[in-house]
Amino acid sequence: MDKIVSLAKRRGFVFQSSEIYGGLNGCWDYGPLGVELLRNVKEEWWRAMTYREDVEGIDASILMHPRVWEASGHVENFTDPMVDCKQCKARYRLDVLFEDISLKKKKEVLRELEPEKYQGQQKDEVVENAFAQLSESSPGSLLKALSCPNCGNKGTFTDARKFNLMFKTFVGSVEDSSAAVYLRPETAQGIYVNFLNVQSASRQKLPFGVAQVGKAFRNEINTKNFLFRTREFEQMEMQYFVKPGTDEKWFEYWREQRMEWFVGLGLRKDKLQWHRHEKGKLAHYAKDAYDIEYRFPFGWGEVEGVHNRTDYDLSRHEQFSGKNLKYFDEETKEKFTPFIIETSAGASRSFMAFLVDSYAEEQAPTAEGGTEVRTVLKLHPRLAPTKVAIFPLVNREGMPDVARKIEAELRPHFRVFYDDSGAVGRRYRRQDEAGTPYCITVDSQTLQDQTVTIRERDSMRQERIAIQKLNSYLQHALSETGISIK
Ligand code: GAP
Repeated sequence: MDKIVSLAKRRGFVFQSSEIYGGLNGCWDYGPLGVELLRNVKEEWWRAMTYREDVEGIDASILMHPRVWEASGHVENFTDPMVDCKQCKARYRLDVLFEDISLKKKKEVLRELEPEKYQGQQKDEVVENAFAQLSESSPGSLLKALSCPNCGNKGTFTDARKFNLMFKTFVGSVEDSSAAVYLRPETAQGIYVNFLNVQSASRQKLPFGVAQVGKAFRNEINTKNFLFRTREFEQMEMQYFVKPGTDEKWFEYWREQRMEWFVGLGLRKDKLQWHRHEKGKLAHYAKDAYDIEYRFPFGWGEVEGVHNRTDYDLSRHEQFSGKNLKYFDEETKEKFTPFIIETSAGASRSFMAFLVDSYAEEQAPTAEGGTEVRTVLKLHPRLAPTKVAIFPLVNREGMPDVARKIEAELRPHFRVFYDDSGAVGRRYRRQDEAGTPYCITVDSQTLQDQTVTIRERDSMRQERIAIQKLNSYLQHALSETGISIK
């Protein structure tokens, strides 16, 4: 992971937010290459989700009426239990604090709390289970026996308190409770409250979906693992409205589509898995829920959730707004509240999964006939920030003029990069690290027969191709995706 974070900074994918002031925890800035990769992730999602007749797009505002978050359950339920260390003031999410404790420490704590039961050798599994049980049934006693990971003092934790993860701010000039609003913690609610607006404007009939990409904010207590858990991030969410009774079928349909999207854009299948939420641990609104998990260097982590949200959201907004949000089926003359199948992906988490998955270090030949290690981002060409790099082999004999002419021809169609500095081998390496799928080199043969070499990033294979065929060659090579819409 450290290597990827360092490449991300060095090559301008991701910078720490406000770095010159020491950074702001949980916030990141996307640099020149990062912003292109992120835009391409969102663009591919938008294309897959909305270039179809049954899904419309919207872009709702980040600030919404505060009642929205009462109706959604966020005011009441969107909380994490947290504790503070009275000594050093460090703050922890209770579950994360417990999760990060080593097995050795867990054994010690259990022996201290229940000496008769846990003397002698215990199987690891027994210790893990006993600790997990105790953290559910008696977190207070565990807290008394634990030391603060920051200052090392024991028994200095406060009792666990509920901490709402929504960021609060105020509209207008008066900072009182009547002016309080929240930065949205998910984009989904902007879709629910616009359900009838979209339906009547687009004249869609069930089943149909509404998609949105946008920023969401959560005051996470523990931000960690680079872009994985941040306080400001982007979501790519689609809410699919269906007739009750057909929800399970559509749930399966969208599960399949969403997994195919990640695989089609190059994520390795063996690094992806489904995680089903246990019945007892489902969110308050869900009938069924699966996460698509990616195997990051620090372990499996959710990149997208697919949820059967039932009629919870529309019913709640109907109740809280007093407005009728029922759907009228013209064929059957029935009125009912649709069920919702939600696909909710993190754009920033997907970005990170694509970055991690594409990173490789491998042996490559040098001009001197030896080998060297090259770092390469094997990004799917559709996600790659730069599509083509153009090099004159040397800066004389008219080669730069021809290379600049090729650049001018391709630039309106692709994001291209012109590089004439250093040995050509070094220029290839720089583009490998940036994930550029094709490099074109103008050499002495070009001046005679109007052909160039085109080198493919992953295989490093080179072929000669006529300059006039470059555009159509690249159009074809860059248009392929493994995603199909069924
Ligand atoms: N509307 C449902 C919803 O928001 P969620 O599981 O809380 O569900 C959906 O979030 C996705 O948003 C996650 O799978 C993840 O990719 C992304 N996400 C959630 N919290 C995040 C955070 N703090 N930082 C980065 N991405 C986050």
